Amino acid sequence: MNKLLITGGAGFIGSHVVRLFVTKYPHLKVYNLDALTYAGNLENLLDIENQPNYQFLHGDITDEGFLMQVFQEHAFDGVIHLAAESHVDRSISNPGAFVKTNVNGTVNLLNAAMSIWKDDFAGKRFYHVSTDEVYGSLGETGFFTETTAYDPQSPYSASKAASDHFVRAYANTYGFPAVITNCSNNYGPHQFPEKLLPLCIHNIKNNKPLPIYGKGENIRDWLFVEDHARAIDVVFHQGQLTATYNIGGVNEWKNIDIVRLLCDIMDRKLGNVQGTSQELITFVKDRAGHDMRYAIDASKIKNELGWEPSLQFEEGLEKTVDWYLENTDWLQNVTSGAYQAYYQKHYHA
Ligand code: NAD
Ligand code: TYD
Repeated sequence: MNKLLITGGAGFIGSHVVRLFVTKYPHLKVYNLDALTYAGNLENLLDIENQPNYQFLHGDITDEGFLMQVFQEHAFDGVIHLAAESHVDRSISNPGAFVKTNVNGTVNLLNAAMSIWKDDFAGKRFYHVSTDEVYGSLGETGFFTETTAYDPQSPYSASKAASDHFVRAYANTYGFPAVITNCSNNYGPHQFPEKLLPLCIHNIKNNKPLPIYGKGENIRDWLFVEDHARAIDVVFHQGQLTATYNIGGVNEWKNIDIVRLLCDIMDRKLGNVQGTSQELITFVKDRAGHDMRYAIDASKIKNELGWEPSLQFEEGLEKTVDWYLENTDWLQNVTSGAYQAYYQKHYHA
């Protein structure tokens, strides 16, 4: 394989995937196609942007004509598709944007790849990056496996589920060379501060309330973003075509507990009296249709491909906090403008 297209490479997870592939595979030309929405930020890639095997393509996956043109021009052999609208709260206030990018955008990409690969799929691969949220919400016990029935509950997860179904339908109908992964919640550097952990880091720094939805009892399974990028590398190169792999951290936390832990780390790093940041915790109205628990059974990817998380959670969280504290300009840049408007509208702050 010579030419790899990564979509959404200016976003949180995509930027880590682009960096990994550009540095690890110097003979592979990596194209990063991104619309640079509020969540896309080329600052995430400053350290690799001048590498000879990297090229940025500014464009929108909802633009079918544009996609056809770039596929004709560059004749990619592989695609890793991450571009998406990714925030559940935004999907509740504007579901249409999620249908447009996550469903229509994915189908456009499938069609563009089909148009140049035709029936000759030898050496070709389309990797669709999805979420564990397609499986719905768990009770106190049990885990999502690759055979758990889809039961999406939010407009975001419904749009991701629909895109997964289209990818599988193309594999089944046309023999299209697709592989899908469904991953749990990621955390780490470059995550946009509308998601729980970077939002709380930002608010602690600015002495603002930490909004906890409902009672904070909801549970998520957290994975360090670089471990997700490593998993994507492993599945892209060794995963079976048409298969699905779940990726997770084996690391479940109640929201209130993870935020308390984060507060303690922040107090230590900022030289505060322990307990200072926890005073900012504020229980607010619950998210509509809030999924109670996500937990991944990641034994398939471990047994078949040998991948497992490399970092202990406390170590990953420390690394993440250090990164946000050292990169105040990044945080400053992404929290100006449109972010302020979103924050005020969503949190009435
Ligand atoms: P993100 O919101 O940080 O980044 C999304 C990127 O896609 C941005 O760079 C944005 O500019 C780009 N984009 C959005 N719409 C586009 C369009 N129409 N055309 C081209 N580019 C567009 O998202 P993320 O958290 O990095 O998630 C990346 C992928 O991983 C998504 O598909 C998401 O569903 C999936 N995922 C995320 C998580 C998580 O915890 N963040 C977990 C599992 C799966
Ligand atoms: P989030 O980071 O938005 O990821 P997802 O909804 O995809 O899991 O939220 C993680 C958890 O934190 C989720 O249960 C919702 C909760 N949450 C809050 O309690 N307060 C907040 O301000 C945000 C953004 C999320």
